Amino acid sequence: MSALPEIKIAPSILAADFVNMASELATIESAELVHVDVMDGHFVPNLTIGPPVVEAIKGAAKSPLDVHLMIESPETYLEHYIKAGADILGVHAEACPHLHGTLGMIRKIGDRLIEEGERTERVRSCAVLNPSTPPDFIEHCLEEADQILVMTVNPGFGGQSFIDAMLPKVEKIRGWIDASGRDIDLQVDGGVKESNIASAASAGANSFVAGTSVFGQKDRKAAIEALRRAAQAAR
Ligand code: DX5
Ligand code: ZN
Repeated sequence: MSALPEIKIAPSILAADFVNMASELATIESAELVHVDVMDGHFVPNLTIGPPVVEAIKGAAKSPLDVHLMIESPETYLEHYIKAGADILGVHAEACPHLHGTLGMIRKIGDRLIEEGERTERVRSCAVLNPSTPPDFIEHCLEEADQILVMTVNPGFGGQSFIDAMLPKVEKIRGWIDASGRDIDLQVDGGVKESNIASAASAGANSFVAGTSVFGQKDRKAAIEALRRAAQAAR
């Protein structure tokens, strides 16, 4: 690959103040993405938000929405989340028996909505891997994925510790992406902070979800910048 992929910081609004979401979103406008965690109480032991709330967030956010579905049977709900405003839509390999097909469906629904005049930008598909899922699960999906997300915690809750053992997985997938020559973002999610973002960046991640380490700081713009700088310095 000639140029290094863009560093993207994706603050996770799971760590924001839900009562004051509009003003919370205003504090993270310098971020490349807004990460939205959707949990169904089945795929993960926590329950968060659905399409109407995603739609409200879309109306107030300045950056593209990176929607992470931690739900069973996500194919049933793809259109709902895309219509609600998802710009990137992530589905878990563990929840999709036909992952390759589901990723294709995400793009197809987005393209249809463009034809119907309901949106202007294409929807980017994302394949997500739990910590216990080997990288091989997505090797056949590089043509269908615009983003690959390696979970660095067991999903369900914010504020957990980054699992260092995920770094070889990130490295391996970065190798596949570079060899493919495709424009695929490699994201990590869970426990990302200023002290460990460099390890993920040097393993090959270029997109970084950060909940607690952004919303736990008073100055969110400075927190985002510090993460971006630390990731940049590692490459
Ligand atoms: C975990 C979620 C994460 C979470 C990250 O299930 O997918 O996006 O919000 O939060 P931190 O950065 O606090 O680990
Ligand atoms: Zn997430």
